[in-house]
Amino acid sequence: MEETKSYWLESTPATNYPTLDKDISADVAVIGGGLAGITTAWLLKQEGLQVVVLEADRVCQGTTGHSTAKITSQHDLIYATLDKEFGREKAQQYADANETAVKTMADIVEAHKIDCDFQWQPAFVYTEQDKYVEEIEREAEIAKVLGIAAEYVQDPGLPFAVKAALRFDNQAQFHPRKYVLALAQAIPGDGCEIYENTKVVGLEEGTITTISLASGKKVRADRVVLATHFPIHDGLGFYFARMYPERSYILACRTEGKLPQGMFITAESPGRSLRTQPDEEGDLLLVGGEHHKTGAGKGMVHFQNLMKFAEANFTVTDIPHRWSAQDYTTLDNIPFIGKIRKGVDNIFVATGFRKWGISTSTVAGLVIRDMMLWGSSPWQDVFSPQRGLSLKSAGKLISINADVAKELVAGKLAGTEGGEIPRGEAKVISGEGTKVGAYRDEQGKLHLVDITCTHFGCELKWNSAEKTWDCPCHGSRFSADGSIVDGPALKPLGSFPAEHDIDPDII
Ligand SMILES: Cc1cc2nc3c(=O)[nH]c(=O)nc-3n(C[C@H](O)[C@H](O)[C@H](O)COP(=O)(O)OP(=O)(O)OC[C@H]3O[C@@H](n4cnc5c(N)ncnc54)[C@H](O)[C@@H]3O)c2cc1C
Ligand code: FES
Repeated sequence: MEETKSYWLESTPATNYPTLDKDISADVAVIGGGLAGITTAWLLKQEGLQVVVLEADRVCQGTTGHSTAKITSQHDLIYATLDKEFGREKAQQYADANETAVKTMADIVEAHKIDCDFQWQPAFVYTEQDKYVEEIEREAEIAKVLGIAAEYVQDPGLPFAVKAALRFDNQAQFHPRKYVLALAQAIPGDGCEIYENTKVVGLEEGTITTISLASGKKVRADRVVLATHFPIHDGLGFYFARMYPERSYILACRTEGKLPQGMFITAESPGRSLRTQPDEEGDLLLVGGEHHKTGAGKGMVHFQNLMKFAEANFTVTDIPHRWSAQDYTTLDNIPFIGKIRKGVDNIFVATGFRKWGISTSTVAGLVIRDMMLWGSSPWQDVFSPQRGLSLKSAGKLISINADVAKELVAGKLAGTEGGEIPRGEAKVISGEGTKVGAYRDEQGKLHLVDITCTHFGCELKWNSAEKTWDCPCHGSRFSADGSIVDGPALKPLGSFPAEHDIDPDII
């Protein structure tokens, strides 16, 4: 298989917004140029605010550029649980917010004639196991009560037998980068700007927030939106302890024969997600799934499992694209959208989208706009980052933070892996009082980094599918050279020259 690269990135041009090279002030600084950041900035500009977007890398190259990009209020099975654990009012808020988001995105596409392969499609959640049938029936009942156009069906039109499925109508799919790049294009002007290669490294709270950039420059803003996927400023919101990262994999397949109409996801594990994507050579079939906690992957096995599933159910002739990405899940599965903490009225956060952040990024834009401009949003309670923990979430809090503690300690105690390092592979070896990650590239060059995560110090694990060092604690990821790829870390890894003092037998 080829190197991993998302179809969405391969099929769109790179952006080239300027880098911020001076101190500036703005009404609003939106940090992060993914779907959440660009949507929020775009909506605020529509209201006449002077908005700057500060993007560390390039617009829409993060998780949004690696999504399956279904635009749907169907977030596998969630409404029956919301109804039971949080009550009808909150479940209604969640449904209304996400149904409105789907409609808002469709309206934006139509009104601004955005060419982004937008297609209305039904969304199905299906099961091949008897034990999920009742859950799907229950979800159908609650979804209908909440006003969603939902139907329990026995045959969703897949080329294999299923036990039951739930169809949501009036849902959609699109090309996420074409959409985000079009919104981004409309932002510069009237005092608004997008700055790329403009990494934020610090934030000082106050009536006016002072944002520090890696370049040493400062941005002063009345209001700030943290849309960095994982909030780069915690502000004692304890976001690191209330979310966990999970990776997931996608294949884009060429196939022969008829493809199912709609977007599909399993109720059970291992998760399988399907949708089509038109391109000039016909329809690609996107096959997704195989999620696991970041840092706990099994390398290429995940792509291989998806390939087996695709080949067992479709006539696959080629797999021109494959990629993987991660998203954060909160303890109660509901994103955090709103003020960063109680008492702070000018810093907002949007995170924890649980792989359903296409609709909920738009929800974030709408909620943050309403709270910022009019003081409240009809959906702010269900998404409030200050909401309390249910008993179930409290149990999860203990469990994920026990995992983090275990990783912190276990990583330090783990032994050195010995032996040669073949090309394309990595090992952990002993350095001077630290653990060194050694990766030998295809040309034979050795890349040595200190594999202590620069966020909170957990020990990194090698991800052989993506050739990155991944953190099992809060999902920071680093290239073989130590530069930041993903997650909350703000500093790259320490690196060593290849002739560093390391056991010569291993090298
Ligand atoms: C495999 C996979 C499939 C998915 N499929 C779906 C789907 O079908 N439907 C759905 O609804 N959701 C889906 N999701 C979830 C959805 O794609 C994400 O939740 C959403 O795209 C997140 O958007 P974002 O703007 O928060 O993050 P991102 O797109 O990652 O944007 C964050 C941006 O912040 C920038 N940034 C980070 N740190 C800094 C800093 N210090 N300074 C400045 N900028 C910074 C990054 O460079 C990045 O550009 C999927 C997720 C995954 C992983
Ligand atoms: S310790 Fe938090 S991301 Fe690594």
